[in-house]
Amino acid sequence: MKLSRRRFIQSSFAFTALSVLPACSVNRSYDQQGRPVYDLTAMPSKAELVPGYQTSILGFNGQIPAPTIRCKQGQKVTIRFTNLLSEPTTIHWHGLRIPIEMDGVPFLSQPPIMPGETFVYEFTPPDAGTFWYHPHMNSVVQLGKGLVGLIIVDEASPVKFEEDHQVMVKHWHVDPQGEWKDLMIPRLSARMGTPGEWGTVNGSHNPSYSLQENATTRVRIANVDNTLTYPIRLEGVDAWVIAIDGNPVKRPYPLSEHKVGPGMRVDVGFIAPQAGERVYVRYMKGKFPFPLCEFQCVKSNLSPANVLPRLPLNPIPQIDLDNAQQIDFVFEWQGAVTPVDDTGKASPTFWLINKRAWNGMSENSIPAALASLQRGKTYIFNLKNVTQYHHPIHLHGHTFTVLELDGVKLDEPFHTDTVLLGKNGSAKAAFVADNPGRWMYHCHVIEHLKTGLMGYIEVT
Ligand code: C2O
Ligand code: CU
Ligand code: CU
Repeated sequence: MKLSRRRFIQSSFAFTALSVLPACSVNRSYDQQGRPVYDLTAMPSKAELVPGYQTSILGFNGQIPAPTIRCKQGQKVTIRFTNLLSEPTTIHWHGLRIPIEMDGVPFLSQPPIMPGETFVYEFTPPDAGTFWYHPHMNSVVQLGKGLVGLIIVDEASPVKFEEDHQVMVKHWHVDPQGEWKDLMIPRLSARMGTPGEWGTVNGSHNPSYSLQENATTRVRIANVDNTLTYPIRLEGVDAWVIAIDGNPVKRPYPLSEHKVGPGMRVDVGFIAPQAGERVYVRYMKGKFPFPLCEFQCVKSNLSPANVLPRLPLNPIPQIDLDNAQQIDFVFEWQGAVTPVDDTGKASPTFWLINKRAWNGMSENSIPAALASLQRGKTYIFNLKNVTQYHHPIHLHGHTFTVLELDGVKLDEPFHTDTVLLGKNGSAKAAFVADNPGRWMYHCHVIEHLKTGLMGYIEVT
């Protein structure tokens, strides 16, 4: 099937039109039905990641943090995306169950968007929650240098928290003067991945936000990092896990520590403490807490609440376990002898899914699917990590129901787009293959997908 560029791609006039926009404009308008229309570009720019220093970055609308796209469950949203990079790209809407034509994967769902071109993404998100967007080409560089943003889908029938915050965590591969270091060191790609050294929340190091006392508060924590898993803790308040990877949990439970792998999110809810008190978001390195950001509580007129609003469950299709088919996926390490390609560069592969390493694709060479699924049928993926490193395994276009983790059956299965497999970990994840198309299926440690841990499944 040849994908047509005609419908979506316009000429490059946008180049000139956009360059006159002020840097920080909120590029949102509304169509005649009152539905949001966003203008989004990917472009080189500069940002002050390390105070006092400018770093060359790649930014959505040139900004760090990227603009948050806010839309509504069950309502169409339009994003007119223009590529002002010097290389092709596409935008993927991570976690959204939308048609394949909008999934933003080059060759499988659309042709690459060339420099200067505009592509109009248009979809109706079926699920509410915290999702994110990022390119799906040259990801080590494009995501690593800043092309990561949130897309928040508000509930069809509004759920009102008095405070709603976003905490996008990312470590940048920069030195104390804001100069780039290696985004990918092969020795580390073959292990946990290359970590950045400068930690930020929403692009700032250890920022502080104010919070009205007594407010019912929702904090949307999103790991948009290429490499690191953040075990998250909150200090100074009793917080609850209310949603995982955009999907509300059936019964909120107290947050002690929640591991958020690359690409993953957790929404926490709490009642803000009294003015003068602080709430800290920490990440744990073993036993030791490191600061991510903090909230300072300030006076308000809000009366002390004692209940948090409830999030309705997302309408994901009902799994049929009695008639499910099981498929095994083994994630493995291989010490490959690295072939040198025709540019003289080595393209190493270190990782395998069911004995296969992903070697990339192009218009005329798309590898075979890892599995072909029948539309409408329930599948149980048996995920098995036989390596010493974490792998957040992500599937596009569908939502998993996690039934079992590390051999332990869960009393309360949860829904997610990304399953974090720990060292030698395993999981059973079920879903209904209801979305036709070819869907990427990969580890979200970007260097892992780059060096083999990627593939796709096909639903027909
Ligand atoms: Cu955030 Cu292919 O994914
Ligand atoms: Cu995705
Ligand atoms: Cu991995």
